[in-house]
Amino acid sequence: MIGVFDSGFGGLVVLREFLQALPQYDYLYLGDNARIPYGTRSDKVVVRFTAQAVDYLFRQGCRLIILACHTASAKALRTIQQIYLPVHYPERRVLGVVIPTVEEALARSPGKRIGVMATEGTVSSLSFDLELKKLDPKVEVVQQACPLLVPLIESGEQEWEGTAMILKRYLAPLKAARVDTLILGCTHYSILKEQIRALMGDNLELICSGQVTAAKLADYLQRHPEMEIRLNRGGSRRYLTTDLTPRFQQLASLFMGQSLTPEVVEL
Ligand code: DGL
Repeated sequence: MIGVFDSGFGGLVVLREFLQALPQYDYLYLGDNARIPYGTRSDKVVVRFTAQAVDYLFRQGCRLIILACHTASAKALRTIQQIYLPVHYPERRVLGVVIPTVEEALARSPGKRIGVMATEGTVSSLSFDLELKKLDPKVEVVQQACPLLVPLIESGEQEWEGTAMILKRYLAPLKAARVDTLILGCTHYSILKEQIRALMGDNLELICSGQVTAAKLADYLQRHPEMEIRLNRGGSRRYLTTDLTPRFQQLASLFMGQSLTPEVVEL
């Protein structure tokens, strides 16, 4: 199975892209809805929660896990890859969304002026900034933390004029910096893609990590037949959550475009 992990529902946006690009595989999605948000938590806690989730998915039989959560990718992936995997699961892999997104942004940016919208945690980790500069030391990076967007989207307020005002305020420094490419560096932000496009204008490359990561995953599996051969091809999907709130189906529909049959688990 391919495991897909997120702090909550947002990662369903990423899973959706995987299902479209690579429908043949079995997928196991885990949303840590009991402990969302990760975006405001310390490095230590994000690493601990993510390691617990990864461990759970491995015990369920996943060979490969994608951290769809940008905050977990930014803060925990390196520790998991360098410290946890070699000791516990040397044959298995955990991949994130930051590197594929950064590669795509650099490939598409005409003037190498790249904006990053993300949670506070992702911004303060400097992951996007560092990875972009590692690949191109001359790139200009402008980061913007957007802490109010996740709660607004999860409250179903994406069409509210207050959300438009807040979005305008977050985008102002990116606009002023004349970024030519904008990374939507959080699972939730693609829900606001049209509003962002309208505020930033047509002359902007918008990078949605879900689409990008799906394409890069297909490429990864082609380059790693030793992994690909171990993945089941039954086309099954299972949805695990650490909490089942009354709004589960509403949010599942928002991010996945359909209602889901969830299984509640404890990590
Ligand atoms: N999934 C998180 C991310 O992509 C957003 C929600 C949260 O803060 O946990 O960064």
